[in-house]
Amino acid sequence: MTSSLLTEVAAAVADGIAVADPALTGADPLVRPSERADFQSGAALALARRAGRAPAELADRVAEAVRTDLLAGVRVSGPGFLELTVAAPAVWRRVAARLARDDLGVPRAEAGRRVVIDYSAPNIAKELHVGHLRSTIIGDCLARVLGRLGDDVVRQNHLGDWGTQFGMLIQYLDEHPEAAWRHGDLAALDQLYREARARFDADEAFAGRSRSRVVALQSGDPETIAVWREIVAASEAAFRRLYDRLDVLLTPADSAGESFYNDRLAGVVDELTRAGVAVESDGAVVVLSATETGPDGAPVPLILRKRDGGYGYDTTDLATLRYRVGELCAGRVLYVVDARQALHFRLVVEAARRAGWLPGDVEVAHVSFGTVLGPDGRPFRTRAGDTVTLGSLLDAAVERARAVVAAKNPSLDPAAADRVAELTGIGAVKYAELSTSRTKDYTFDVGRMVSFTGNTGGYLQYAHARIAAILRRAEGEADPVVDPTTDLHPAERALGLALDAFGDTLADVAATLEPHRLCTYLYDTARAFTDFYEACPVLTAPEPSRGNRLALCRLTKATLREGLALLGIAAPERM
Ligand code: ARG
Repeated sequence: MTSSLLTEVAAAVADGIAVADPALTGADPLVRPSERADFQSGAALALARRAGRAPAELADRVAEAVRTDLLAGVRVSGPGFLELTVAAPAVWRRVAARLARDDLGVPRAEAGRRVVIDYSAPNIAKELHVGHLRSTIIGDCLARVLGRLGDDVVRQNHLGDWGTQFGMLIQYLDEHPEAAWRHGDLAALDQLYREARARFDADEAFAGRSRSRVVALQSGDPETIAVWREIVAASEAAFRRLYDRLDVLLTPADSAGESFYNDRLAGVVDELTRAGVAVESDGAVVVLSATETGPDGAPVPLILRKRDGGYGYDTTDLATLRYRVGELCAGRVLYVVDARQALHFRLVVEAARRAGWLPGDVEVAHVSFGTVLGPDGRPFRTRAGDTVTLGSLLDAAVERARAVVAAKNPSLDPAAADRVAELTGIGAVKYAELSTSRTKDYTFDVGRMVSFTGNTGGYLQYAHARIAAILRRAEGEADPVVDPTTDLHPAERALGLALDAFGDTLADVAATLEPHRLCTYLYDTARAFTDFYEACPVLTAPEPSRGNRLALCRLTKATLREGLALLGIAAPERM
């Protein structure tokens, strides 16, 4: 089964073009969905010059030559567009064929390609903030969509679990045995971390002891390492709770934090130095960019070894990329990290290319995203000026969802209402995140997110639950039989074509790495369903319309359910 009517129509038009003018064999038929017919092709306009004909004349010839019973009509409009209308039986056949398949007619076509996705990556001993929320949700959606299309996805959680700040924290804990923190209590650790930082800045002697502690940590002093391990485990336990609540795919096995690369750093620096890619500068070892210059016009350095001999974020990321390509055998490496780190990743990729670690066919992409803004249009912070913790954000969304759900369906029993509130609140946050173009900043507005109207997660969940309710009324009946010779109402046509574009939409998300395209698609499909349901009675319709319409309901439900699942959002049967 080809993946869509669009592909089939495009193939038919390509054949027509080759018949109309053999010199144009192989040309792109440029078929797109259209408002005026089902599809439109601008190929005649694009190819006219090459064919030595006026666009309208070429369009006429192609229209003549397109021969397929897939199309009920090929019309030339305007300066030479082809307007293509799919034949009713072809639409019904597609509905039936997709419904009959577990994969909804979207095959796992990318088999074999390994894609490493770096996402979430919070920092140990600190609360996750909204920036990590974005990375976690966007990265998880991409992992699901690429995996669904057959990519071999390797998730990597590049935890910030290494560095000089841990010397400071461990030293502070050592000097304050009364400081209580429990396993999984990130807020307490975060607070102690702040105290340690304040002390470090204010007290020269403490700063000195902290620096020795860093040396102890990096040279593997058992006592220091033991405390560090405890801090990492306690933080990871807290992260895990949030991941579970958010229903993201990340597992402990996906954690490969900065510390994981520690014993590879010296080798990386050596290798780059020997290759002549890294140079000494003022006692440090750096890679000077060939393309990026700073405000002073000098090349921007990637710092591999600081003057004090220490390694930092830059070195770690180089070792990481080397590992992902060389050892994990990635064909595509994605970094889902906020836009402010764009220069960092450009420098890392440049250095890796110069080192010869990146074969030309390996794609590295920084999947960057903008800032989360508060209601005041400034980066989201609490009243006290702190960054807002993820847990409190989710609580606020679920709280709001509880009220909306209760108003909508007061008859749900309390346990079900709780469950639905949690799924709706979390779904709302995720959907709000995914439905805006990721490169833009977006405003965190719980009221708007947790609404059942407009382009929201709740609207889609509710649309799905409503179809579930319709189908429950036909429960126990045999599977609907689709009769392709039945009339096709315009609303059925619109819905059938929308459903058919599911696979193309997923391919588009995989190519552009933009989840909002899937959200827009699902929203449009849910609206097409609403139009259909208003125009076409289902359960009370006579056969064969009833069977055809039930099939449309089932396929819509399955598509919304899977689409939401690929966004990482639950689709309850009842709401
Ligand atoms: N821990 C970093 C931060 O919170 C993000 C790490 C992103 N991944 C990477 N390979 N650098 O900013």
